[in-house]
Amino acid sequence: MLIIANWKMNPLDIKNALRLLNFYKKLKYKDLWVAPPYVYLPILIKRFKNFTFGAQNIHYEKSGAYTGEISAYMIKKIGCKFVIINHSERRKMGETLEIANLKIKQALKNNLISVVCFGEQKKIDDLKKLKNIWNREFNILFKDIKNFKKIILAYEPSWAISTQKMGPVPKEIVKDFLEWIKNKINSQIKILYGGSVFPENIENYLDLNINGFLIGSQSLKPKNFKIIINKIKNVV
Ligand code: PGA
Repeated sequence: MLIIANWKMNPLDIKNALRLLNFYKKLKYKDLWVAPPYVYLPILIKRFKNFTFGAQNIHYEKSGAYTGEISAYMIKKIGCKFVIINHSERRKMGETLEIANLKIKQALKNNLISVVCFGEQKKIDDLKKLKNIWNREFNILFKDIKNFKKIILAYEPSWAISTQKMGPVPKEIVKDFLEWIKNKINSQIKILYGGSVFPENIENYLDLNINGFLIGSQSLKPKNFKIIINKIKNVV
């Protein structure tokens, strides 16, 4: 199973970033990808050759007058293999599905894997309504994209992530999602679950037909992360 650790805006310095990676190394988990803040990427990529690294964001253009932005081309050049796109925390900062679509295209142009976050923003119990929302989101996000070989979809509705209050997502909804996506895309696509996993709930999701997990807060807590990894190891 693929595990992607999304560090978000953490840890606060390179010393702690190195410490966390050294800890990950000891877990000896083969399929662990890491998305640290940009500033740590060059150092971590150089020092930890056995890990796959990616960025948490890119701009949709290759270069130009975009103060503060970083392009797909740049992160590819330093050795990144993937980028996270359409994360709900970016959507809360004003990023639209249309922008995410341009970013996916830019990532594809640069031969990067797009880890595309996907899911409704509010908790909805009516499956018909939910499917309408998924369809709309899918159609905008993947407009003009025909090849899904370089795309990984992370199902993580905004209402369920970065919090224990609303989440985790009931297993039935994840199953409905998996069923819906299978009918939507004919080709094989990797699906991750991301909203949210903890040592206490990871077992609920281990028997689902998914390819792995996108883990935020718990990837920064060595003790909890180790428990999660060990539980995953037991089933793969
Ligand atoms: P969380 O974040 O595990 O902290 O909820 C998931 C994510 O990074 O998307």
